[in-house]
Amino acid sequence: MSEIRVELGKRSYTIRVEPDSLGRAGETLKECWLGRCAFLFTHPALVEPYAQPVANNLRDQGCEAFIIETPAGERFKTMRTVLRLYQRLAEMGADRSSLIISVGGGVLGDVAGFVAATYMRGTAFAQVPTTLLAQVDASIGGKVGVDLPFAKNMVGAFHQPVAVLIDPMTLKTLPLRELRCGIAEVIKYGIIASESFYGEIKSTIRPLLRREPSALQGAIAGSCKIKANIVAEDETEQGRRAILNFGHTVGHALEVVTGYRRYKHGEAVAIGMITALIIGEMVGTTPVGIREDVALLLQSAGLPVEFPLDIPAEAVSQATRMDKKRVADRMRFILVPKIGEAIVTSEVTVEILREAIRRHQCVK
Ligand SMILES: NC(=O)c1ccc[n+]([C@@H]2O[C@H](COP(=O)([O-])OP(=O)(O)OC[C@H]3O[C@@H](n4cnc5c(N)ncnc54)[C@H](O)[C@@H]3O)[C@@H](O)[C@H]2O)c1
Repeated sequence: MSEIRVELGKRSYTIRVEPDSLGRAGETLKECWLGRCAFLFTHPALVEPYAQPVANNLRDQGCEAFIIETPAGERFKTMRTVLRLYQRLAEMGADRSSLIISVGGGVLGDVAGFVAATYMRGTAFAQVPTTLLAQVDASIGGKVGVDLPFAKNMVGAFHQPVAVLIDPMTLKTLPLRELRCGIAEVIKYGIIASESFYGEIKSTIRPLLRREPSALQGAIAGSCKIKANIVAEDETEQGRRAILNFGHTVGHALEVVTGYRRYKHGEAVAIGMITALIIGEMVGTTPVGIREDVALLLQSAGLPVEFPLDIPAEAVSQATRMDKKRVADRMRFILVPKIGEAIVTSEVTVEILREAIRRHQCVK
């Protein structure tokens, strides 16, 4: 078992990474929440295996626990879903002492967290992430929100959970494509923050893809440690936290341009990381060789690295117009001077981005 503390003063909380722990989740939650009534948001396929054990254990602790199902998929990460969930909570008598628990992936965690941040001006919130991407990234740090049709994560809040309970065994039912998306974010942490972690992931990529428990435990705990440190240093992204967005400007734009249907988030980020490394090479920040190494690692995890030829550079740069990090024709970009280090720059212009995409489209 690994416990990682996210140090945020009064809003500090623990991330617990422990195999086969869902049946004890209620006990753990009662250590950090004093209320009596919990609402578990989840998807239909996750009720039996994952939400039910959490609900049962909460009931064993003398709580009331209700499961609310909502459809899966990025296209449901909308205000419409949020409104429906507010209505369900109100009908079922949720109040400010209630706990909202997300049992699912990053989409559900973002939506549930936004509901928790805003329902009755805020209720307690806990994360039980069941995708690798949510376990290593989305469930930590308190960013919650929904998409608008023309821009991802456009409406949201910072609302920290009271606890994050990670059971790596939930990943045994995760489709391989989703597992790979989580590995994209794990690789990202190595690139931006730790050369030794990057090396560890490189040497355990096959065991990770085979979902070997020790490889999963190491990748999840290592990623959570890196994210927890960055969030503790800069909770609301005034500075260093921005490095977590490495690969995300182009990744988000690709998701928008393709209507959130063609690429999963982690796949779009994998492609976006390569574009960001090309930009780094163009402006003299990223030495030659890093991009090839990262591309090989992403490919060995089964992730896409080529930029789609049917998407014009212009369409992607247009889509970054709504990026929250863009100011006039310059955008905040994360560049990598060496593996394990990242810098934030505002020097990347739309023209550089377009040229980088064109070059990326020529790389085979
Ligand atoms: N808030 C943040 O800091 C943050 C960080 C990174 C990503 N995100 C967001 O996370 C989202 C992507 O999350 P995701 O990749 O987890 O996708 P997701 O939430 O859509 O989950 C992917 C699919 O896996 C299914 N699933 C979940 N757990 C399962 C399991 N154990 N077994 C079988 N199926 C399972 C889900 O029902 C869904 O169909 C994006 O919207 C992204 O913007 C947020």
